[in-house]
Amino acid sequence: MSKESSDEEPPVYLHHDVYPAVDPSQLISNHAFQGKCVIVTGASRGIGEDAAFTFARAGASVVLVARTKSQLDAVESRILEHVPNAQVLKAAVEVIDPAKVEVAVTRVVERFGGVDVLVAAAGTARSMIVAFLQADP
Ligand SMILES: NC(=O)c1ccc[n+]([C@@H]2O[C@H](COP(=O)([O-])OP(=O)(O)OC[C@H]3O[C@@H](n4cnc5c(N)ncnc54)[C@H](OP(=O)(O)O)[C@@H]3O)[C@@H](O)[C@H]2O)c1
Repeated sequence: MSKESSDEEPPVYLHHDVYPAVDPSQLISNHAFQGKCVIVTGASRGIGEDAAFTFARAGASVVLVARTKSQLDAVESRILEHVPNAQVLKAAVEVIDPAKVEVAVTRVVERFGGVDVLVAAAGTARSMIVAFLQADP
């Protein structure tokens, strides 16, 4: 952590580290999610991709959900490259279609016996970012 400027009130700090409260390294080294099934929507990039990657490193079976199959394939490859024995299931599903979501969840339960964690990261930040830019260009 470094202090960017002492003139700022309140002071502005730049963080290039991981806060202890959210640091996953111990969960990863302990394989704390071994035997757990984690569904991650929005897993093809961004927050969801990193969440899926981290849960897989912590031993979880991960279900990658997003609409773009080629991106899900790429994320699966990234996971298997680092965690060769990872259990990965992909579901190229539009999350606002309840019928397709139900089919996907049924597949998940058949394969893994249930769901322990849902990371709901599907979405878009576009309107939020535009609003930010308009408020503070
Ligand atoms: N990044 C930030 O700083 C931030 C801050 C606050 C909140 N958030 C929120 O956190 C969420 C994730 O952010 P992000 O930055 O990781 O976004 P991102 O990089 O744009 O990723 C969005 C993910 O959601 C998937 N997705 C979008 N619509 C979908 C749909 N209808 N059905 C299934 N999958 C869908 C996308 O894949 P496909 O396009 O292949 O479907 C992609 O995997 C967003 O809802 C965002 O608003 C982000």
